[in-house]
Amino acid sequence: MAESMYGLHRTCRCAEVTKEMIGTEATLMGWVQKARNKGGLVFVDLRDRSGIMQVIFENGSIDEAGFEKAGKLRSEFVIAVTGTIEKRGGAVNENLATGEIELRAKSLRVLSEAEVPPFPIEENSKTKDEIRLKYRYLDLRRPDLQRNLMLKSKVAMLTREFFAKEGFLEIETPMLGKSTPEGARDYLVPSRIHPGCFYGLPQSPQLYKQLLMCSGYDRYIQIARCFRDEDLRADRQPEFTQIDMELSFVDVDDVIDVNERFLAFLFKEVLDVEVSLPIQRMTWQEAMDRFGSDKPDLRFGMELKNVSEIVKDCGFGVFTGALSNGGSVRGINAKGQGEMPRKKIDKLVDFVKDYGAKGLAYIAIAKDGTRKSSFGKFMTEEQMDALIQAMDGEPGDLLLFAADKNKVVYDALGALRVELAKQMDLLDKNQYRFVWITEFPLLEWSEEENRFTAMHHPFTMLMEEDLPLLDTDPGKVRAKAYDIVLNGNEIGGGSVRIHQDDIQEKMFEKLGFTKEEAYEQFGFLLNAFKYGVPPHAGLAYGLDRLVMLMAKVDSIRDVIAFPKVKDASCLMTQSPGQVSDGQLKELGLKIEEEEA
Ligand code: AMO
Ligand code: AMP
Repeated sequence: MAESMYGLHRTCRCAEVTKEMIGTEATLMGWVQKARNKGGLVFVDLRDRSGIMQVIFENGSIDEAGFEKAGKLRSEFVIAVTGTIEKRGGAVNENLATGEIELRAKSLRVLSEAEVPPFPIEENSKTKDEIRLKYRYLDLRRPDLQRNLMLKSKVAMLTREFFAKEGFLEIETPMLGKSTPEGARDYLVPSRIHPGCFYGLPQSPQLYKQLLMCSGYDRYIQIARCFRDEDLRADRQPEFTQIDMELSFVDVDDVIDVNERFLAFLFKEVLDVEVSLPIQRMTWQEAMDRFGSDKPDLRFGMELKNVSEIVKDCGFGVFTGALSNGGSVRGINAKGQGEMPRKKIDKLVDFVKDYGAKGLAYIAIAKDGTRKSSFGKFMTEEQMDALIQAMDGEPGDLLLFAADKNKVVYDALGALRVELAKQMDLLDKNQYRFVWITEFPLLEWSEEENRFTAMHHPFTMLMEEDLPLLDTDPGKVRAKAYDIVLNGNEIGGGSVRIHQDDIQEKMFEKLGFTKEEAYEQFGFLLNAFKYGVPPHAGLAYGLDRLVMLMAKVDSIRDVIAFPKVKDASCLMTQSPGQVSDGQLKELGLKIEEEEA
């Protein structure tokens, strides 16, 4: 039986009741977390998004009928209780903010009964993901998820507050647009009025925000939904949210300055964490050489060392072969892991294979100084000594080496370094290490396409001093692009854009676009630039990733109300779903049967 709340008014949320309110009357509404029937007394833990309040029903304090109703309460019933705030009669619960008080009920209404939920609504649920996501509306009742979403709301609110004070305007850009050159696959929306034509959902508002700069809005911000049809991982969703901005009449330092102040403000307000400014900056090359990654986690060391010089004349073909192919040999020192069992080392070898490495060579130094190595027999004693010394190897250490093209060595050791840090428990979620990565390469050679592609996008400006290299050695040109990295996660990135047409033309030429092709794709932007374009630059944060780190959780799904799973489907609504023949016909679409 469900009752109405006619005539009732909620006075506050459960955990908003304080000791100062003892003796006053309150009306609370929420879900029954737990009901315990102790004969003459019924205790109910009442839950809402603020927390829990203990309610006590005693025959006499509440009338007979009310007491009987209380005896029938079950988990997840929705109720309204009016009563008096009292000091707890029983033991104080130190785990609760409201642990010293309780509500003595005078009246009760059951607003809604509830079936037994398919899993208990509790913090840090052990229930399988698939079940929780199928019943996401129940999963979202869990206090940890509620805290995450409240945190996200606060971050969005503070973001607007900060950038508004800095003179940014919030302007919306279309969802139904043209595809942007961001690099992932687009989600397409068929047009009914123009059969055979499609809108592209934005991978980011990139082109629109540059157009807004042409239109004179000079400081733009948007909390924008973006769509990318790419393989999902723990930190990636097909739709996600950016804090997206663009500024006119600025260079790299201006963008970095306002964003550092933003991050310091946000972390202080939300987590009471001091971000000391200026945030460290590191060039892309240095990040790759020291950490094998353009998003280095600086919470721990274990840096890469280039040992190519030391092993160049050794007898180990894997090393010398990589060097003669123009590659390198690099290693990391896993301190204190020298006694790692062979099986576990083999797992690390498998691990790096996912990153393209053909193998992993190692020297394990036991505590007594004896060494085991996968390539010892190819080296002289002196060569081994020199190698160990170069790696600062001490008794008890495990030295791991990869030999290959630089890219493979960086990828493999960069990932291995983080994997080992996880295994060695070196990653403290309460520590926040920011770093700007700057001076990215402008262009990347694509083996498949046999041409240069833009590492960021084709409108990224290059460093002025590298302009001459664009003709002589394009692979060496550095971009005015920057990423902001937090604890090994790329939380944001951006660049200064090209606003000079001669440089833009040259850029397209290097990317292998003809003028016609460039105009076909980006004509509206190139035309806009003809009518007076200010120098401009911008940046976008992944809001979900940022909040994931602030909430100290491992998956982006835990900060998105209705996320998709790995195959980009939603287990709750069963999307994507098929549509009717009528709908297809209207859109001029036909589904081809897949061949068996
Ligand atoms: P970029 O592609 O680097 O830059 O994206 C900016 C930030 O968005 C986040 N992000 C994602 N988060 C969740 N799921 C995804 N699939 C996903 N993809 C990206 C990352 C990333 O740092 N227009 C440019 C910005 C600019 O130049 O101003 C852009 O979109 O945290
Ligand atoms: P193999 O010659 O393939 O039997 O390999 C000998 C040892 O070298 C094994 O421990 C391999 O894991 C390791 N190894 C193979 N390829 C590489 C590589 N590219 N870099 C580092 N070690 C490798």
